[in-house]
Amino acid sequence: MNVTVMGTGHVGLVTSVALASLGHDVIGTDVDEKKISLLQQGISPFFEPGLEEALVGEMEVGRLSFTVEAPRALRDAEVVFICVGTPARADGEANLLAVERSASVIAVNGRDGTVVVEKSTVPAGTAERLLRVLRFERPDLIDEIEVVSNPEFLREGQAVEDALHPDRILVGARSVHGFETMRRLFEPLVRDGSRLIETDMATAELAKHACNAFLALKISFANALARICERADADVTAVVDVMGSDPRIGRAFLDAGLGYGGFCFPKDLQAFERLAARLGYDFPLLREVERINGEAVEATFDKVKDALWNLEDKRIALLGLSFKPNTDDVRFSPALALAGRLLDEGATVVGYDPWAAANAKSELPGLEVASTADDAMEGAHCMVVCTDWDDFRSLDLRRARGLLAHPIVVDGRNVFDPDKMKAEGFVYYGTGRATHRASAH
Ligand code: UGA
Repeated sequence: MNVTVMGTGHVGLVTSVALASLGHDVIGTDVDEKKISLLQQGISPFFEPGLEEALVGEMEVGRLSFTVEAPRALRDAEVVFICVGTPARADGEANLLAVERSASVIAVNGRDGTVVVEKSTVPAGTAERLLRVLRFERPDLIDEIEVVSNPEFLREGQAVEDALHPDRILVGARSVHGFETMRRLFEPLVRDGSRLIETDMATAELAKHACNAFLALKISFANALARICERADADVTAVVDVMGSDPRIGRAFLDAGLGYGGFCFPKDLQAFERLAARLGYDFPLLREVERINGEAVEATFDKVKDALWNLEDKRIALLGLSFKPNTDDVRFSPALALAGRLLDEGATVVGYDPWAAANAKSELPGLEVASTADDAMEGAHCMVVCTDWDDFRSLDLRRARGLLAHPIVVDGRNVFDPDKMKAEGFVYYGTGRATHRASAH
C-alpha cells in the first residue's frame, strides 16, 4: 500500500521503517528540513539501536523515501499516519496544534478515500475533532474521509524490535473501510502472532493514556515502597520480586530507582489528568504518581548530601545521563534533574553516558561531560549511577575504587550487589535497600 508518515520523531521514523519492511511503499515527511536532509542521506537524527541500518536497507530497496514537500508526499497516499509531537502546554494539557496542522495539510493535499491514522498520543475525543477539521476543509469529501486511531506502544531503546514484533496492535475506527484498511496494512504482523485489538476511536485513544499511566503508577508504587524499605531495613528488590511472582501483579516496571523520565510518561500522565478534569472527573491518584516520581530524585539527592555533607568543593560523577538505557534521549531525564539539583548546591558535576553526553550538555550547560566512565570517576568524591546501561553492571569495581577520591557510590538504579560493594570497601547507598554508611566523612 502507499503510505505517508507525517513526523520523523521516534514514533514516526520507526513506524516508517517498520511499514516499509512489511512491504509497503512509504514516504516520510516533516516540516523540519534539517531532519529530512539527514534522512535523505540515510542518517538517523537520533540514536536508536538497529534503526539506521534498517532505514538505509529500506531506502536502498526503494520502499522508503523522505521529502519536506507534503503535497508530493500525500498525492498518492492510501493511508496517512500522523506521528507529530503532542508536547505538554504550561497547564499540562496536550498541545495538539501540530496534529491539527497535519490534518489541514492532509485535507488540502490528500486524495479521495485516504485513511488518516492518528498515531500521536492524544486525549480521547481527538479523532472526532480531526474528522471535523477534515470535513470543514474538504466538504467535497465528506463520505470519503476516514479517521482511525492507532496508538503506538513501542519503547525507545528497543523501538525497532517493538515495531516489528508488537504484542498488540490497537485500532480504533468507526467504519468497515477503516478497519479493513488497517487489517490489510498490518496483516504480516498479525500473521506473525501480534494480537489485533479493534475498538471505537475514543476507547483506543483512552487505552493508550491508561497504559502509560498504569506503567508510571507501577514505577511510583515501587519507589514509594523503596522509601519505606529504607526506613524498615527491608530490601525493595526482594519485595518487588515477591510481588512480581504473582502473575496478577507481574514483575515488569517495578524497578525502584531515580524514577521515570522521557518524553512520554511525564507528559502523558499530565495530559490524562487534565483530560479527566475536563471531563469532570478528579483523578488525584495520577498527581500522586507524579509527586512520588519527583520524590525519587530528591531521595537520591539526599543520599549524596548525607554522604558528602557540604556539596561546594565536591566533585560528583554521574554515570548515565539519558532517561533510560540504549537511547541518547535526555528529555525529562531524572539524571539531569539530579544534576541540576547538585549544581544548584554548588557541586561540580561530571557526567558520562555512552550516547547521550552531547544532548545532556546542551540541555544542561553547567554539567561537565567526560568521554569515559573512568574520566568521570577520576578524582570524584562520589559516584552516582543514574541510568542502568548494561556497561555499568560490569564496571571494574576495584578500578573504580582506585579512581574515586572517596569510595562512595549512590546506586540510583540498584545495578550493584550491596554485599559485593561492602566487600570492595565502598560506602554504598542503594535505592530501597541496604546502605553501608561510613561513620563520618
Ligand atoms: C513508554 C512505554 O513503555 C511505551 O509502551 C510507550 O509506547 C511509550 O512510553 C510512548 O508512549 O511513546 P518509553 O518512554 O520509551 O516507553 O520508556 P520506558 O521503557 O517505558 O521507560 C520509561 C521510564 O521509566 C524510564 O525513565 C525508565 O528508566 C523508567 N523505569 C522503567 C523505571 O524507573 N522503573 C521500571 O521498572 C521501568
